[in-house]
Amino acid sequence: MASFHSSHGLLLIVVLISSLQFNLKAEPVKELFPFPYHGGPLLSGNIPVNLIWYGQFSPTQRAIVLDFIASLSKPTAEQPSVASWMNLTAKFYQVTTIPDSLVLSLGKEVLDENYSLGKSLTSAQLYKLAKKGGEDNLINVLLTSADVTVEGFCQGRCGTHALGTGPMHGNTNSKFNYIWVGNSEIQCPGLCAWPFHESINGPKTPPLKAPNGDFGLDGMVINVASLLAGTVTNPFGNGFFQGPQEAPLEASTACPGVFGKGAYPGFAGTLLVDSKTGASYNANGINGKKYLLPAMMDPETSTCTTLV
Ligand SMILES: *[C@@H]1O[C@H](CO)[C@@H](O)[C@H](O)[C@H]1NC(C)=O
Ligand SMILES: *[C@@H]1O[C@H](CO)[C@@H](O)[C@H](O)[C@H]1NC(C)=O
Repeated sequence: MASFHSSHGLLLIVVLISSLQFNLKAEPVKELFPFPYHGGPLLSGNIPVNLIWYGQFSPTQRAIVLDFIASLSKPTAEQPSVASWMNLTAKFYQVTTIPDSLVLSLGKEVLDENYSLGKSLTSAQLYKLAKKGGEDNLINVLLTSADVTVEGFCQGRCGTHALGTGPMHGNTNSKFNYIWVGNSEIQCPGLCAWPFHESINGPKTPPLKAPNGDFGLDGMVINVASLLAGTVTNPFGNGFFQGPQEAPLEASTACPGVFGKGAYPGFAGTLLVDSKTGASYNANGINGKKYLLPAMMDPETSTCTTLV
């Protein structure tokens, strides 16, 4: 998986940073951390995550992502849990001394099942659609169905995250983060749904069985998770990332293709296997759901941490 970042997303971030004053506490740059921190704020407080569905998704498909988001702040009895994966971001707060008060909760769903902007979307249209979830201190996750083409989709990118602006409050605009991820099922599963589909550019290892029986949607969860980790730890383009700001490697994208211990190109790592279905996973969610979630950087050691 290559960069998740569109030039459009970066443009928004850069423009906003130069034109707005954030009322958030920024930390001075500390150069000794192995995973580069650029001094800016991380997300904090209670933040709803809204889902905007563009195109056709069945209720079963929607439940896969819905339960994933709802699981982020609900530890399950069975370990490891989706909540323990989310808590891998706690270390980023610890090394900055920014209090980790972040609680992501499931917000609302918006359905656009009749393709209001057609079946071929530009980055500007993604932004327009993302705004349907609201524009004030939240994360909007826009998900496009398998029959929708999107500017740059499958050409090295599976999704993006960026910052948007909402209405004025006093002297500053409200702001919101948004994520877009496409269902790669028919367009590029070998790029965006690996390891549930044979890779298009890596070693041809047999695909793993997807934990919720839908490699397109289970692949979307991997990308949503990865972009959420980037959003939380680099919400304004000046948090944690390595490499150039226009093509940053973030908390999770810096660990591409790693899901379990012992991973190497073509091998996702040693994972848990569901005895009933034979599917591979590494995290338990609510409603008995299982997920495969990507590795996360340990910001102190610059190593990729996995749940299993
Ligand atoms: C989350 O992770 C931090 C840092 O590793 C740890 O101190 C804390 O106990 C964890 N919280 C939960 C609820 O597991
Ligand atoms: C979408 O189109 C179908 C068929 O034309 C219609 O029945 C349905 O009400 C529309 N849905 C929305 C949300 O507009």
